[in-house]
Amino acid sequence: MKGVHFLVAFVFLALAASFAFASDPSSLQDFCVAINDTKDGVFVNGKLCKDPKLATAKDFFFSGLDIAGNTSNPLGSVITPANVAQIPGLNTLGISMARVDYAPYGGLNPPHTHPRATEILTVLEGTLYVGFVTSNPDNRLITKVLNPGDVFVFPVGLIAFQLNVGKTKAVAIAAFSSQNPGVNTIANAVFGSTPPIRSDVLAKAFQVDKNIVDHIQKQFWDVNN
Ligand SMILES: *[C@@H]1O[C@H](CO)[C@@H](O)[C@H](O)[C@H]1NC(C)=O
Ligand SMILES: *[C@@H]1O[C@H](CO)[C@@H](O)[C@H](O)[C@H]1NC(C)=O
Repeated sequence: MKGVHFLVAFVFLALAASFAFASDPSSLQDFCVAINDTKDGVFVNGKLCKDPKLATAKDFFFSGLDIAGNTSNPLGSVITPANVAQIPGLNTLGISMARVDYAPYGGLNPPHTHPRATEILTVLEGTLYVGFVTSNPDNRLITKVLNPGDVFVFPVGLIAFQLNVGKTKAVAIAAFSSQNPGVNTIANAVFGSTPPIRSDVLAKAFQVDKNIVDHIQKQFWDVNN
């Protein structure tokens, strides 16, 4: 009987583990360096793969995360990505990184989601007020103030943000559980789509007057990535 319980528990754990790793599929070869053209390429899942014999160190390399991004934009933040678009050797490997720079006094990485990745963020410099919101029906806000050396996790798909609450610039390094985490910036997606979402849809959804929606939709929708 005990053995049966153990087996059932094991099967559940195995299932849980397979769901937990469901973001990017496990790699079935050592690597699959991304290439653009179909000539000599094999499609797996993501990008075409280069013939492994032709792969070089350059395919697995990126330089520049020590360089501060330019935060002179309305949000006061900028992302420097290091994902499969910059490092073709990341194709099929299920991870990537980014540097985030935040301007002093309020640089904001606005509410957004990463549809394909959990994010783990390390603060190198400055002080960030960070948070994410759990899904319906709770919509619970989970927040923390982070200082250099602090690490915070943003679960896949949840709406998250970071605000520089310090007097100096802030810098963070993010790691993602996808070669291509994707970004949905909530305000831009909802109010800055092309073509715009009908204002009566948004007026009802946000329970405000249609004129307010028209006004918001006319703003310039800046992105930091
Ligand atoms: C693929 O094409 C894009 C756009 O032309 C280019 O920026 C990128 O470097 C290319 N990637 C590879 C791996 O050749
Ligand atoms: C930063 O960006 C702003 C706005 O685009 C530009 O005017 C400025 O020259 C840039 N600064 C640097 C150091 O590149």
